Amino acid sequence: MQDRDKLEILVDWLLKSTHTVIFTGAGMSTEAGLPDFRSKTGLWKQKDPTKLASVEAMNQNPEEFYEFYRMRLATLGEASPHKGHKILALWEKDRLIQAIITQNVDGLHHRAGSNRVIELHGTLREAVCLKCKQVYPPQVLEGESIPRCSCGQMLKPGVILFGEMLPQEALRQADIESRRSHLFIVIGSSLEVSPANFFPLEAKGVGAKLVIINLEPTDMDDQADLLIRGKAGEILDYLNKILKDPD
Ligand code: APR
Repeated sequence: MQDRDKLEILVDWLLKSTHTVIFTGAGMSTEAGLPDFRSKTGLWKQKDPTKLASVEAMNQNPEEFYEFYRMRLATLGEASPHKGHKILALWEKDRLIQAIITQNVDGLHHRAGSNRVIELHGTLREAVCLKCKQVYPPQVLEGESIPRCSCGQMLKPGVILFGEMLPQEALRQADIESRRSHLFIVIGSSLEVSPANFFPLEAKGVGAKLVIINLEPTDMDDQADLLIRGKAGEILDYLNKILKDPD
């Protein structure tokens, strides 16, 4: 089937769906200049995440741990939402989509103007104390020294590290949205990480149509009702153009 036909089918499904959920991964932000994790240029191709992005790494190897997150914060400072992020924010305003569940911690959906954004893996836009749970702005992580809370404990970036539980409220909200969905569109995720990768299957389980828009094959391609190979920003731009000018 031609890609144009697939895009037209997806536009038809978008217009007919009464509850559409978007599920994004790092592939949604590569066109904004942020690396993903598992494609050939991804962050985890050069580094072992469990030795870097874990609470153990923070305690046993704080210098490397904080250097890694300072690097990520610096690249985030140079990034801004691309046209795909802005189109999703527009679609929320036009009530074409009802929620975004994201694995991303870059805050680009919020900065593009989306409101109903469920951040499963936390956010780089804050730091938190593991002991007293006090929240700080991300700037506390900058500089050379180890950032500490007023209670003396080391501060952790507001992201969920490997081995940590996902935020209960985000899981609860993502569960509600997935169960309500009639159309569930995955954009830019390898779908390799659980429990985040449970939600596309949950949506499918309640009868939603599952669409996967991704540059490379994913572990769940065989579950998809529609597969679109391509770049997130470009595909969303094409879809938006068809929506605006159907003929
Ligand atoms: N458009 C569409 N797809 C893209 C684009 C793009 N511009 N750029 C990359 N991709 C695809 C890649 O081919 C890859 O399959 O996006 C996918 C990104 O997959 P991952 O790098 O595994 O990222 P993600 O699925 O978000 O990882 C989930 O793993 O390390 C943890 O917490 C981290 O939230 C992250 C989680």
